[in-house]
Amino acid sequence: MNRIFDTHSHYDDRAFDDDRDEVITRLFENDVCGFVNQGTTVATSEFGIELAEKYGSTYRHIYAAVGLHPECLNENSIQDIETIRRLAAHPKAVAIGEIGLDYYYDVPKELQKEVFAAQLRLADELSMPVVIHDREAHGDILEMLKTYRPKGIVHCFSGSVEMSREIVKLGMYIGMGGVVTFKNARKTVEVIAELPLDRLVLETDCPYLSPVPFRGKRNDSTMICYTAARIAEIKNTDVDEILRITKENAEKVYNLDLSEGIE
Ligand code: NI
Repeated sequence: MNRIFDTHSHYDDRAFDDDRDEVITRLFENDVCGFVNQGTTVATSEFGIELAEKYGSTYRHIYAAVGLHPECLNENSIQDIETIRRLAAHPKAVAIGEIGLDYYYDVPKELQKEVFAAQLRLADELSMPVVIHDREAHGDILEMLKTYRPKGIVHCFSGSVEMSREIVKLGMYIGMGGVVTFKNARKTVEVIAELPLDRLVLETDCPYLSPVPFRGKRNDSTMICYTAARIAEIKNTDVDEILRITKENAEKVYNLDLSEGIE
């Protein structure tokens, strides 16, 4: 049984255009049991669903999150939510994501908040989990999570230990990826040390954020083994245990049964 489930990936990215089929086949030969492709626009949300459909008969556990990423918003975004609603009805759509706030990029905050709130309401209405993107927006993210109370994952968590406690209190999960293995990841290591294992899920955010020793290279879901090894070290346990628990957590948060289909 393959052990790795990648809760956050972008296989639609053009970094995979030349060899997407080979990469995906190789994942399943190398301990990956499945992944969730994250939407950032209507087009990439559709791409994720097409990916799941295309490979579905061979690899059962390819899923899509559908949503509008704060970095990709424009004046049509509010209308685009109606398309996201339609895509979310697809059987392979498992979450509304990735959505949130990104104050690093120059997208007006008011537009970001409006579209984020609308997608939180959509997730609530559809009883679906959300996948949250939070870059340099910790305070506003926490405030909105407290207001809308979604279920789901705060991905590539970069907040403080205090914030992670708040996220756990809200019943959400924290997604960790390659950053954990970076030399300057002191704050992330503190968060993991403190975090109950039943609140942790693993991710790549591929093609970005490869773990050491592949930092800077193209990432893919097989590399989660390096992230898991570092987390095992921090938690004073073994990789098997980390992969087992985080896969169970992924099943819970995305309402999946990963026990079948991959031997
Ligand atoms: Ni992402």
